[in-house]
Amino acid sequence: MKIKEWIVERFPIDYGRFVEISEKVFAKEPIPLHYKKWWFATGAAPLLLIMFQIVTGILLMFYYIPSPEMAYESVRYITEEVRFGFWIRGLHRWGSNLLIMALILHIIRVFFTRAYRRPRELNWMIGVGLLGICLGLSLTGYSLIQNQVSYWATTVGTNSVKSVPIIGNALLQFFRGGEEVSANTLTRFFTFHVTLLPPLLLFLMFVHIFILRLHGMAELEGREGEGFYAFYPEHFFKVVILTLFFVAVLSTLSVMSPPGMGEPADPAVTPAHIKPEWYFIFVYFALKVMPMQVGMSVLMILGLFFVFWPFIDEFIGKRVPNLKIHYVVGAAAILIFLLVIAKEILLTPH
Ligand code: HEM
Repeated sequence: MKIKEWIVERFPIDYGRFVEISEKVFAKEPIPLHYKKWWFATGAAPLLLIMFQIVTGILLMFYYIPSPEMAYESVRYITEEVRFGFWIRGLHRWGSNLLIMALILHIIRVFFTRAYRRPRELNWMIGVGLLGICLGLSLTGYSLIQNQVSYWATTVGTNSVKSVPIIGNALLQFFRGGEEVSANTLTRFFTFHVTLLPPLLLFLMFVHIFILRLHGMAELEGREGEGFYAFYPEHFFKVVILTLFFVAVLSTLSVMSPPGMGEPADPAVTPAHIKPEWYFIFVYFALKVMPMQVGMSVLMILGLFFVFWPFIDEFIGKRVPNLKIHYVVGAAAILIFLLVIAKEILLTPH
């Protein structure tokens, strides 16, 4: 009690009102009854994983040195000499993979329940922005270790930007900090990875969840009016269980399969096979099977479809009311994605 009085005297805000508002805004947030299924907690997963990424990323920055001469050595030092360094690096590395998986699951759940329908189209588009930022963070983070794989993945990745119509060359120069991959590229990727993208991500996440609170969570189509339950305690504890689950899974993966070091980057030796991470395989595949410029244009058109999907769905729905086109499009997209992954990762030699 003494401590509380001490704090209140120095920080005199109205605590009663503070508790009242937080109860109203958070604890009593109405959640549609069908959210009791775990499938509907998929939005909390990326939120938690992003928090983990920020904490582990800050810890890695205590030792990481963003220069071409020192980067590889500093990551080796973290992995082999810093106490628990391999574990923190493993959590960050596996966390980035789990984050993309969690986002894919979240998109699948939002897509198949058509939770993007009016008036939630803008929140869908903000979500696409969040996905783009998370992919940007993965791409820039991957390059920081400066081993052969990451160096050449950065070279090939930035090279494909060249085929973006009209602004391709300018984009290439912007990302590389010159014509070639150099020390400038590492500085830029590091700057994107730690100073530009994370605050943008946090800001958009705040807007995403703020808009979500303004609209309230979407009720399932055809099951409107079934009722609601309060965020606290049931949904809150679901999130706590999810957090513990992720800590356990990430920790196990980091200890059982810690990320390795690979060979240090050698700009003079091109490896036989350069492949990006699994979540960029689709882009890699499109640019491999089609001429670069055509592949890039196809990817950009698909990207536009993805961004504006809620409007496209509404447009089709008005003309053919009973056609559940989202089932067809969603199933086809998942199937193609899995087939490409199977072909490029499981069936093609590395
Ligand atoms: C950093 C990434 C993201 C975070 C932290 C996040 C978080 C959340 C949370 C907590 C919810 C509440 C409902 C639920 O748990 O499912 C939600 C709903 C929603 N999300 Fe996300 N999300 C992210 C990315 C995305 C992406 C990539 C999309 C789509 C491309 C998206 C579209 C939506 C939509 C439309 C809703 C509203 C659903 C409803 O009202 O039921 N989000 N998001």
